[in-house]
Amino acid sequence: MFQSTIKNVLNTISRRELQELAPTTIINKKFNLNRVPSTTSRQQLMHQRDNYRIPHIASKNYSLSSDVARRCYDKKKLLMKKHLNWRVKGLIQLLLSKIPFGVNINHKLQFLRGAYTEKGLLKSALIQSDQIREFDHRQSIENSTVLEIGTGWSLIGVILFHLKGAKKIFGVDLHPHANHKVAHILLRGLLSDINGIATCLGVSKAETEHKIKLLLKCNANKSLFECLNFTYIAPGDARHTNLKDSSVDIVFSYGVLEHIPTDVLAEVFDENNRILKNNGTSYHNIGMHDHYDSAGLGNGVNFLKYPQWYWQLMTGNDISYHNRLRLSDYRRMFKNSSLLISNEKISVPQKNIDALKQIKLNQQFHGYSKTDLAAAEYFVDLKVANTI
Ligand SMILES: C[S@@+](CC[C@H](N)C(=O)[O-])C[C@H]1O[C@@H](n2cnc3c(N)ncnc32)[C@H](O)[C@@H]1O
Repeated sequence: MFQSTIKNVLNTISRRELQELAPTTIINKKFNLNRVPSTTSRQQLMHQRDNYRIPHIASKNYSLSSDVARRCYDKKKLLMKKHLNWRVKGLIQLLLSKIPFGVNINHKLQFLRGAYTEKGLLKSALIQSDQIREFDHRQSIENSTVLEIGTGWSLIGVILFHLKGAKKIFGVDLHPHANHKVAHILLRGLLSDINGIATCLGVSKAETEHKIKLLLKCNANKSLFECLNFTYIAPGDARHTNLKDSSVDIVFSYGVLEHIPTDVLAEVFDENNRILKNNGTSYHNIGMHDHYDSAGLGNGVNFLKYPQWYWQLMTGNDISYHNRLRLSDYRRMFKNSSLLISNEKISVPQKNIDALKQIKLNQQFHGYSKTDLAAAEYFVDLKVANTI
């Protein structure tokens, strides 16, 4: 069954993508795909990458280009991850969340797992850059004041907004995760593909290269923050940023809101409303899929079958929490916080819709539409209510 799942997925990836995304040794060993050549030069790889990415950008179909990048990124994870049973992973993370320095140990484990490689971070940056460039068409980033919620370890969002010309960036995080060494891995990754990052972000190549080289000279957290004109509110909480009323042009989050409990989230949206300028925009990328399925081997909606008490027991901790809110829940919460949706994009994979037939939904999810349940990603722009 494992073999046939892998084969199905591989059938959806072109040979070119496969060559670029997975070390052939891993593919050959695990899946016996000897038809993939054993060596590919860097130049060839770059040519292949440009072949799939640039034409889509050139066609001005930005969402397609970002979908392609995301699809490829997901396949890469599928091919390279070692697969733990989700319950085992959940229990390890639960344990780590309870012990002193457990969050840091989890971070080290992620390091060992290869989550913070130049190539991996570059891939994520290309995907986020596509979205940031699209967003910039709706709300100009140049000279703006930005707040990022949940900046994480690499400061990926902060760095991309800086490269896109934001004037002042604030970042709030529950934990002071930011680490200049991880940020430097990302920056070296960006430097290895200046063309790609400049194209995806829609910025000048020379200026981007110059900015990245300057950032690489900032050799400690404090100095990196200064170079980015970044104020770090950590440990902090997106419910209470202490920023002034109507002082921020853009509130941004990427892969964060799904990790915040519902009651806390309601307060985060109220705070969003308070600090956002009248002509500002709040932009959130929300992962509504089952994160334990992110390796691609699960069915995408598996987590909807568990009762709340069980889900809370397994994942109710700082490391692996997912609120399982659906599209309609988010829309209702925006409304309750007087935030108006000005733009939205939802990805609903057919795979997730099909998978709904294979699971017994927990009672709490009865009454939701299929789209609501199967939605995997939600990109939403929000405005303060009295401004539309
Ligand atoms: C999955 S990480 C995403 C990091 C980053 N956005 C990225 O793309 O790499 C989620 C982050 O949100 C932070 N977070 C969770 N709840 C938060 C809250 N209430 N206020 C601020 N940050 C929060 C976590 O500490 C963590 O750093």
